[in-house]
Amino acid sequence: MKKKKPNYKLRRQMAKIILIVIVLTPIIFINKTKIFNAPLYITNIKYSKVIDSMFEVDYNKEKIKDTLNYLKEKKKINSNTANYILKIHNLGYSNNVIDYIIRNLNKKQITDFLARKYNKDFEEYIKSNLFLYKKYDRYLAYQKNHKKLDIDDVVTQIELNLDKTYYDDSVLIKNPDSIDTLANKYLEIPEDYEPSDLVDMDDDYANNMYGQKKLRKEAYDKFVEMCEASRKDGVNFYAESAYRSYDYQNTIYKNYVREHGQEEADKFAAKPGFSEHELGLSIDLANIWTITTKGEEYKWLSKNAYKYGYIIRYKEEWEDITGYAAEAWHIRYVGIKNATMIHKKNITYEEYYIKYIANKK
Ligand code: DAL
Ligand code: ZN
Repeated sequence: MKKKKPNYKLRRQMAKIILIVIVLTPIIFINKTKIFNAPLYITNIKYSKVIDSMFEVDYNKEKIKDTLNYLKEKKKINSNTANYILKIHNLGYSNNVIDYIIRNLNKKQITDFLARKYNKDFEEYIKSNLFLYKKYDRYLAYQKNHKKLDIDDVVTQIELNLDKTYYDDSVLIKNPDSIDTLANKYLEIPEDYEPSDLVDMDDDYANNMYGQKKLRKEAYDKFVEMCEASRKDGVNFYAESAYRSYDYQNTIYKNYVREHGQEEADKFAAKPGFSEHELGLSIDLANIWTITTKGEEYKWLSKNAYKYGYIIRYKEEWEDITGYAAEAWHIRYVGIKNATMIHKKNITYEEYYIKYIANKK
């Protein structure tokens, strides 16, 4: 039988197709990734580059308009977007701001933004992870009254509602059982909350003379470890107060108000529903004497408490953020990972919580 002659033409064509596929696939893939990462108002990487170069210094207004028209004609951006881009640029803002505004603001917000004067700080505002345009007026008002704060602190402190009135604008905590829960004058613990894993504290570690002291199990176990370690270093302290029910906090608070007047009492005592002690994660320490920042107990705790998951919660330099006067004796359990980070950063639990915990929840 005669052998069939191979079809070289077909083979050549097949080889060409395979070659084209091999060459094109990565190109398409890379461009797709680029397009995906490009600003939303641009559907093709080519046009994103056009926008970028459009705002380079030597581009005059007419040229920018021309380019925007060109992009409109090509249906790469709609005329609203083109107008916004031009107006934001004309206000004096950079490409970063233009990009942020077009991506994140709705029409109403953009109109609002365009009606404002240029603000050199806006560039800094959008760098802050917690920035939300809907809070922009609150940031500006707060910034006016806190001129020394940098922009990121302004945004963080507004996120903590520090521009609002203590207690009046408080929000009920949804997860009081979580070890990292934040409770303060803006975040209220439900009245009927009682931790389910409270344990009795041993006389070795707590003053039980005026009632059995209790703490949540995990916090207690770490407290025992911490006491043992400090004693090895020749430093002693024990729990003078630990878990408090809503009713007990109410009694304490009322007594303080009777004794010192409300304004004074509010500086060092929490209203019922607002004390960390109600979470079963806080301890007031004592030796035979009161713990002070000058004493060896405080020095030991400052250096070591984080290793057991505890933080010193109320320091003098933090009063404006925590809402309380310094308390050298009050420690709070937050877990070793959180305590270590807080120790390193030396920041309030409020700031740590809003930056590193709340956003992930
Ligand atoms: N002394 C602290 C602030 C409390 O009452 O919880
Ligand atoms: Zn306390």
